[in-house]
Amino acid sequence: MYRTHTCGELRKDHAGAAVTLAGWVQTVRKFGSITFVDLRDRYGITQLLFGEELNKELAENPPGREFVLQVKGTVTERTNKNPNIPTGDIEINVTSFKTLNKSVTPPFTIQDDTDGGDDLRMKYRYLDLRRNAVKKNLELRYAVNRAARNYLHEQQFMDIETPFLIKSTPEGARDFVVPSRMNQGQFYALPQSPQTFKQLLMVSGYDRYYQVVKCFRDEDLRADRQPEFTQIDCEMSFVEQEDILNMFEGMIKYIFKAVKNIDYTEKVERMTWEQAMWQYGNDKPDIRFGMKLLNLKSAFILSNGDAAPTGQLINGAGFGVFDNAETVLAIAVPGCSEYTRKQTDELTEWVKRPQIGMQGLVFVKYNTDGTLKSSVDKFYNEEKLKAIAAAAGAKPGDLILILAGREERTRKAISELRLEMGRRLGLRKENEFKLLWVLDFPLFEYAEEDNRWVARHHPFTSPKPSDISVMIDNNPLIENAEKYLEHPYSNIKANAYDMVLNGNEIGGGSIRIYQRELQEKMFAALGMSPEEALHKFGFLLGAFEYGAPPHGGIAFGFDRLCAILGGSESIRDFIAFPKNNSGRDVMLDAPSTIDDKQLEELSIALKGTTHA
Ligand code: AMO
Repeated sequence: MYRTHTCGELRKDHAGAAVTLAGWVQTVRKFGSITFVDLRDRYGITQLLFGEELNKELAENPPGREFVLQVKGTVTERTNKNPNIPTGDIEINVTSFKTLNKSVTPPFTIQDDTDGGDDLRMKYRYLDLRRNAVKKNLELRYAVNRAARNYLHEQQFMDIETPFLIKSTPEGARDFVVPSRMNQGQFYALPQSPQTFKQLLMVSGYDRYYQVVKCFRDEDLRADRQPEFTQIDCEMSFVEQEDILNMFEGMIKYIFKAVKNIDYTEKVERMTWEQAMWQYGNDKPDIRFGMKLLNLKSAFILSNGDAAPTGQLINGAGFGVFDNAETVLAIAVPGCSEYTRKQTDELTEWVKRPQIGMQGLVFVKYNTDGTLKSSVDKFYNEEKLKAIAAAAGAKPGDLILILAGREERTRKAISELRLEMGRRLGLRKENEFKLLWVLDFPLFEYAEEDNRWVARHHPFTSPKPSDISVMIDNNPLIENAEKYLEHPYSNIKANAYDMVLNGNEIGGGSIRIYQRELQEKMFAALGMSPEEALHKFGFLLGAFEYGAPPHGGIAFGFDRLCAILGGSESIRDFIAFPKNNSGRDVMLDAPSTIDDKQLEELSIALKGTTHA
């Protein structure tokens, strides 16, 4: 037997027991004739004491960092206890030991605060995974996985695997493709998600499906995106949007309880996509704090009929930046009216960074004594400033920040600025979790480069019932690209929803189309000829003719959910073997070239690359 206990298990109660432990050497400390070794495994660290009698053996087989040792000895209560670790009350008085394997000096220290940079740690990921910080993340990931499975199992969902080698039908991201040896010149694609398979399973009658499944997307990477990532993918039959929202609100709450012991009892807030865009400038708002946007340029009405609080506050004062801008957006930052020149200058630099891309920032300080001071006093008298402040919902003590420019960029910039100010003011608390459903997304998005409509979610999402006739009765052709917003398609709303957690999209789904005619119409709206639609999606259109039930579903970004619950921005920390930002596995050195023989078998000739 290699061990009787783990390195995290022994306590005072075990004193006197003869034990055998095995693990990795964390540290070796010599004090005169005795030597202390910290032995580590997945479960913890135990202190070993090597007395004088083992000195000769230690000199012959000196243990070094990361050596694998097996030790036999007696559990003894320590005089000098370490309250920081669970095994801190005891140590092992070693009677014999064996080096099971040696280690070369590791390239970085296996500690929480390691001296290894990102690349080095990725290259030696198997060593990085020994670190407590990474291990904790993987444990959390496993806990989320278990909780999701338990919940879904209780709700009678069935885990059904779907294939990885499928047909390439790029829509959304690019496909990763795999050449077929047996069908030369032909390629499989790796699934961007099991979307069509789960819909086919509904046609087959498996009315509650789920899978914790890998998805593959060849897209530009960011902290919250990996080329292969995992979804908790779900689909249900005979449901309406409300059923899905309730079921998965339940799942997330169950996960919160199981993993973080959080009772998320309140109903998850809901907001339409339009509301999110107007009030937060963004379709995945962080609602842990307010600081909503105010549009100073034009009055607007939300689709629910509410008038947004604004007016023609700023036009015509002779200030060109505002007068000529497509949009002018403001936020009131609480308690910052006393910002110094240095601080406001720094904020101006912040918005000018290329990632934000604005030309400048206008301030209005709403002083605690009720007076107002701005960087545009020349154009706006105190009365006007007061009206702006009132419209922005500002209180004395607030700093109003205003950005002006092109609609899309300005909206994006102010939404980033809002998040940044929220971060600076400590309003984005790591241990506060705020869920949100964003509903009623547009069905289509205009793709400028091809002058056509693309599906905002995916082509299987159904329009709102009241918008179906708009889709059927209107020609998708966009005659005037400049005025695409006037095309009836731009107003069609989808039966689609996203779940947002603390400003991150953690899940998205929709009620699907399940009638062949409507699905054909959808493909046509996206610019596909009937032949192309048949070639790409004939299997699905065919299946819809054999009694397809009404259905809908959702997929959660499992890695993202884990990262947020673990308090990290980067999903890489929660994936055992992630890729770097260029999509490389630096440990495997993949992707890599392949042998000429392999290429030949696949009948593939490389064009314009030097093949090693
Ligand atoms: P969607 O494309 O919105 O929907 O993806 C669902 C969720 O997956 C996560 N996600 C990612 N996570 C890490 N890296 C990526 N590259 C990445 N891309 C997406 C996000 C997202 O919310 N089949 C549909 C779901 C459905 O309609 O049921 C789908 O895949 O958290």
